[in-house]
This record gives sequence, C-alpha cells and structure tokens, in this order.
Amino acid sequence: MAKSRKSRPLTVLQITDTHLSTNPEARLRGIDTARTLATVLEHAQGDQRWPPDAILATGDIVHDEGRAAYERFRSMLGAYGLPVLCVPGNHDDSALMREALAAAPFTVGGSIRLGDWAFVLLDTTIVGEEGGRLGARRLLALDAALRNEAGRHVTICMHHQPIPMGSAWLDDSRVEDGDAFFEVVDAHANVRLVVWGHVHQASARRRGRIRLLSAPSTCMQFRPNSATFALDDLPPGMRWLRLDPDGAIDTAVDWVGHRS
Ligand SMILES: [Fe+2]
Repeated sequence: MAKSRKSRPLTVLQITDTHLSTNPEARLRGIDTARTLATVLEHAQGDQRWPPDAILATGDIVHDEGRAAYERFRSMLGAYGLPVLCVPGNHDDSALMREALAAAPFTVGGSIRLGDWAFVLLDTTIVGEEGGRLGARRLLALDAALRNEAGRHVTICMHHQPIPMGSAWLDDSRVEDGDAFFEVVDAHANVRLVVWGHVHQASARRRGRIRLLSAPSTCMQFRPNSATFALDDLPPGMRWLRLDPDGAIDTAVDWVGHRS
C-alpha cells in the first residue's frame, strides 16, 4: 500500500559533493567518484530506512561542469522513482545543471512540499567563484518562500556553509552574507533545519530552535578544524534525516563500511 504523504515522519537521504567527472576514466585524488557514489547508494539501499521519501543532493554534483557528468548523475539517481532535490555547488554549472536535471524526478532550486514539511532549495553559488553568497535578490526570494510556507516546517538546503566551521581555509568560502541569511531566517518561526554540503564533513549544531547540519561527501572527507587543506581518512558517507509531523528531527550520519 502506498504510504500516505500526510502526517507521518518523512525520511530524507542527503548525499553531497559527489564530484562526478565528464570522463569516466578521470580520478579525483585517485578516487573514482562514480564508484564511491555507487557504493553509497548500494549501502543506503541495504538500510532499513530505504526507500526515503526524497534524496537531497546539496551541490558539487559534478567536478568539471560537463553535461556527461550530469547525465551520469541523472542515470544513477533517476532510476529509483524518488524525488531528487538538488542545489548547485561551486563546481556546478547552474544553467547546465538545471537543463540536464529539468525533468522529474529531479528538482533544482525553488521550493517543494512533502507531507508536513517544505524544502527550500537555495542557490548560494557565484559564477566563477569558489565561495558562496546569497545577495539581496536571493534573500528577498528566501523571505518570500518562507512566508509562503508559513504553518509548515521548513528545511533550507544549500551548498555552502552559512556559519564558520572552524577550519580557516574552508571558511574562506562560506556564505559571505551568512548574517543577512540568519536575519531573514530569524524573521520566520517555521524554519527548523538548515543543511549543507561543501565542507566534506559531518557536523551538527544548534542555533536556538534551528538545527544546523552538514553532511559528509560521497567521495572524500576533509579533516575538521584544520587551518589548511587536509584530508580525513573517513570513508564515503551520507546523512539520514527523519522529519516528524510535529517538527522534530532525528538524524544520523552513516559511512560506507559501517552499518548504523
Ligand atoms: Fe563545494
């Protein structure tokens, strides 16, 4: 029997920073990123939480901005018949990504409602730059989207971190106008959760009533709190979210090779 979409917990699988290449022979620091994404998806399918109500991909879907890499992502993620919610990252070409992932089950940007929750898919990228910024236009659109979802719990999904992670080299590329972002968020009582990628590490913080979560990459991890670039020795990972109808959130990070 089909699950009712209303008044039951939602399960969401967050994957991020898949860094797929146009050339299937390409390796990123020796890693076959299509292979590690496949291992993450295989691992997730063996989890009792599978199938999720949606898969969330928080940017850097491709590493080298090529159409073939988006097509690989589309064929790997499109087969499940589950909604795949996407935001671009600094390695993505937003326009190409929107075009390649234009059809269902993919959604790039905008807002989408599932059950008692809304997901606002926020673009933090700046063309040609590694760092993130929202700017006045996107902040106005965010404000309008949050007003439009009044009475519904909201998860904001983005690529760059809106707060410092405590890692100087990574924090150089955080959302530059993070304070303005939280001014908008604080004006709305419905935001429960902000999730992001980019930092290739799991983290969990709280800011008043809002949970702030980053997810590990499906390919390689960065060492937390390192002032300069450093890789961690953790395997590919993913984050599971359970979002309750009353706004409560339960979450766990899972790593390939472990069974949580
Ligand atoms: Fe990134």
